[in-house]
Amino acid sequence: MPRNWSRSTATAGATPASPPEAVRVYRAKDLDELSRMAAGHLVTAVQRTKGPFSVVLSGGSTPRRLHELLAAEPYRSLMPWDRLNVFFGDERCVPPEHKDSNFAMAKSTLLARAPIPAEQVFRMRGEDVPPEAALAYEADLKAFFRGRPPAFDWVFLGLGDDGHTASLFPGSPALEEKSRPVVSNRVEKLNADRLTLTYPVLNAAKVVCFLVSGEAKAPVLKRILEEGGASGFPAAGVRPATGDLRWYVDQPAARLLKP
Ligand code: 6PG
Repeated sequence: MPRNWSRSTATAGATPASPPEAVRVYRAKDLDELSRMAAGHLVTAVQRTKGPFSVVLSGGSTPRRLHELLAAEPYRSLMPWDRLNVFFGDERCVPPEHKDSNFAMAKSTLLARAPIPAEQVFRMRGEDVPPEAALAYEADLKAFFRGRPPAFDWVFLGLGDDGHTASLFPGSPALEEKSRPVVSNRVEKLNADRLTLTYPVLNAAKVVCFLVSGEAKAPVLKRILEEGGASGFPAAGVRPATGDLRWYVDQPAARLLKP
């Protein structure tokens, strides 16, 4: 476990659905320590759970180190891979071997290195027509959760410096989705469509972990942690109704936060 990390309970500001005590900020020295912390907490959570465990991976670059750690010792031997079911928080509308694919990143850093049964990896089909791919993923979720509303055991999310998370970008239509768990989303700033989980399913999760690293994230992280939903950033809309909300942040990202 990481050497020197502090856990401070930060209230998430105005109108958090999560009770303030359920919002925790874990501070790490750097990305490596942040990733070790998150890896250890995830493995412990899976070990303590009976039966299938569902984890949602996020895209971007921050999770790479976490994935590499999980696929290597000591975490590789500690993780109950036979009970782990891997899902994705969002996906670019590209084929699975494309350099921009979140699945491709997860495959190269984790899925191809760890003994996860292939049938326990649920990929968003970025190569398909986006609305059809979203419907297909919704069907996957319906099947996995046996018709009950999807409630993931553990969701990893990243944070963009514009306050987006998954592919919930500022001003994008998916922010308004109130029922479907996954949609295709038009992201004008990228001039691209994305597949993304939505607030209803993110806020139904048991544990949501943001991994935030690097000084570029410091201003938006400060606004979100100190203003909560009032900040207006998409990531601030992730407030699990009954689950834990956790922020794993390294020192550069936390540099503007109150001590
Ligand atoms: C994506 C991600 C996205 C990401 C943030 C942070 O598909 O790009 O899901 O939400 O988590 O943009 O990305 P970095 O980790 O690269 O800073």
